[in-house]
Amino acid sequence: MNKKSNRFETEAIRTQLERTEFLEHTSPLYLTSSFIFEDAEDMRASFTEEKERNIYSRFTNPNTTEFVEKVCQMEEAESGYAFATGMAAIFSTFAALLESGDHIVSARSVFGSTHTLFTKYLPKWQIETTYFDVTKPETIEGCITAKTKILYAESPTNPAVDIIDLDLLGNIAKKHNLILIIDNCFATPYLQQPIKHGAHLVIHSATKLMDGQGRVLGGVTVGNADLIREIYLFARNTGPALSPFNAWTLSKSLETLAVRVDKHCENALKVAEFLESHHKVNWVKYPFLKSHPKYDVAKKQMKLGGNIVAFEVKGGIKEGREFIDAIKLCSLSANLGDTRTIVTHPASTTHSKLSEKDRLEVSITDGLVRISVGLEHVDDIIADLEQSLG
Ligand SMILES: Cc1ncc(COP(=O)(O)O)c(C=O)c1O
Repeated sequence: MNKKSNRFETEAIRTQLERTEFLEHTSPLYLTSSFIFEDAEDMRASFTEEKERNIYSRFTNPNTTEFVEKVCQMEEAESGYAFATGMAAIFSTFAALLESGDHIVSARSVFGSTHTLFTKYLPKWQIETTYFDVTKPETIEGCITAKTKILYAESPTNPAVDIIDLDLLGNIAKKHNLILIIDNCFATPYLQQPIKHGAHLVIHSATKLMDGQGRVLGGVTVGNADLIREIYLFARNTGPALSPFNAWTLSKSLETLAVRVDKHCENALKVAEFLESHHKVNWVKYPFLKSHPKYDVAKKQMKLGGNIVAFEVKGGIKEGREFIDAIKLCSLSANLGDTRTIVTHPASTTHSKLSEKDRLEVSITDGLVRISVGLEHVDDIIADLEQSLG
C-alpha cells in the first residue's frame, strides 16, 4: 500500500493499492470471489498464513484491504476488518470477543438494532448487558461486575445527540481492565478519534457519512491488532464480509470525507442556530451550540459538531407529525449522513414501540425531531424547515 503523508486529507486520497501493469490512476475494482495459487507449495503456505496474500474474498480482497487501511490511518488504529453493514460489524465484534457468562456495560442510548442485539440475541448465549444513562456517567462504575468484559458507547448518540466524555470512558476501561468499544458513526474519524482517548476498538456504519451519498451499505471495526485478529477469524469463518464493489465505492468516498464533513458541519451549525431562534421550537441539541449540556466535552473531543441536529417542536406527537408532513425539500427517510437532508420523528416512527417512560430514558420526547443535515444550499434547507414550522 502506498502512503505519502500523515495528513488526513492526503492519506484519504493517496493511500491506494500498488498500481498494476496498466498504470491506472485510481485503484481498479477487483470483482473476483477468489485468487489463484502458483502451485501446491504456494497453496499450503497461503493457507497456513506463512504468506500474506488474498485467498478468497470472504477473507480478504484488495478493495476491502484498501478501504480498511484508509480507516485504520484515519482512526490511528493498528488493524481492521470490513463488514457488509454496520450491524454486521457490531454483531461480529461482540460474537468474536465474548463468551457465555460475560457481561457488557453499555450506554442506554444506542442504535435500535444494537439495543435489540443486547436485549434479545446476546442473552440467548447468557451474555447480559447493563445500561447506564449517558447523562449520568458517575453511575458507570457501579454497573461493572467481575464478569464485565466490554464497555460500549456511541458519542454523539442517536437520535438525541447526547455526548459522553471519551477520556472518562477510557480511564474507567483502563482501571477495570475492560475492552472499550466506541461506535464512532455520527462523528467519523475526521471529527473524533476514540483510540486517542483509550478506546480499544472503533466501529463504524460506513453506510452513513463514510459513503455519504446514500448508495452502499458497509461497516468496519478497527483497533487493537490482537482483538482484530479474533474478529477476523470469526468473520472469515462466518461470512459477514464487505463486497469488493462496496469497498471500492467506500474507498472512493473516503477521498472526499474531510471536505464533505466540513460542509455538513457548517450547514448543521447554521440550521441549529436558526432552530434555536424559532418561537415554535422548545429546545435544540447540537454539540457545538453553547446551550448543549456537554458543549465543553464536545469541544474537547470533536473537531466540529457533526451533521445531526435534534430539536423539539412545541406541542407533542401531533405537532411533530404535522411538522414532518409539511416538509417539501428534505427527505423523510430512515438513513442519515447523506448529501440529502433527512428529517425523522423518532416518537412516531423508529421508537414508537417503546413506552413513553422508555423513550424518555433515552431522551426521546414526543416532539423530538432529528435532522441529518445534508449538502444542499443551507438557505434552502432552512427555508424548508421554516415553512414546515409554519
Ligand atoms: C450509530 C449507528 N450504529 C450502527 C448503525 C447500523 O449500521 P448499518 O445500517 O450500516 O447496519 C447505525 C444505522 O443507522 C447507526 O446509526
